[in-house]
Amino acid sequence: MAPKPFIGYALLTFSLSFVKIFAVDYYVTNDVADTPGGIRFTNEIGIPYTKEKMGTSNDFIWSTIFQQNDPSDQKPLDSVELYITTFVDEGAIAMSWGNNKINFSSVFISEYTGDDLKYIYTGILYHEMTHAFQWDGEGRAPIGLLEGVAEYTKLKANYPQPGFAKPGEGDRWDQGYECTARFLEYCDEVSAGFVANLNKKMRFDYNVDYFEDLTGKPVDQLWNDYKAKYVH
Ligand SMILES: *[C@@H]1O[C@H](CO)[C@@H](O)[C@H](O)[C@H]1NC(C)=O
Ligand SMILES: [Zn+2]
Repeated sequence: MAPKPFIGYALLTFSLSFVKIFAVDYYVTNDVADTPGGIRFTNEIGIPYTKEKMGTSNDFIWSTIFQQNDPSDQKPLDSVELYITTFVDEGAIAMSWGNNKINFSSVFISEYTGDDLKYIYTGILYHEMTHAFQWDGEGRAPIGLLEGVAEYTKLKANYPQPGFAKPGEGDRWDQGYECTARFLEYCDEVSAGFVANLNKKMRFDYNVDYFEDLTGKPVDQLWNDYKAKYVH
């Protein structure tokens, strides 16, 4: 009987190291720690909180939004890096770049006058983390759709900003951001798991026919149905 616990222990060790191989590391740097935005970041948000939410959002994106429980379906990233930094582009709040990097504006943090900075920050973090892990049809997917998926994650994570688009809002399906997020929410009602399945199809390519493949209806028909459902 003696060998049995030994085998159990060996298997446990193996599975723990297996998990470790696929873990993503999160790096957060406050590049402007002495500026008003950098100081406010440290006082009201902080590096530990950011790292924790990068992990939580990564798990949520894989398990709930993209339903990629098999690691071979996931976009393989060893790490995601986030920088609190000033922006060249005035007015921008955050941006994704270089495959696994996020820059967050210290100017936005310093000038934000709304109620709950941490809540707003967290929603934007879910948005940017989605860009790190979403498939983009190898660059062929429309930007408006990719931004819509990122806002969809924010919405489903329960971090929509005050004034977030209501169901039925929008002028075009690929308008982007909140309106496309609401449209994607509607597509999920038509076909359960739509956003996850669309993302899966966008791994190597993009075609607008993916909407019809998944729902039986062309995207323009879906858009008309969406508007008809909410606008009376
Ligand atoms: C993002 O911020 C880092 C650190 O401040 C900087 O080195 C990098 O150039 C910025 N990236 C972009 C695309 O602005
Ligand atoms: Zn975005």
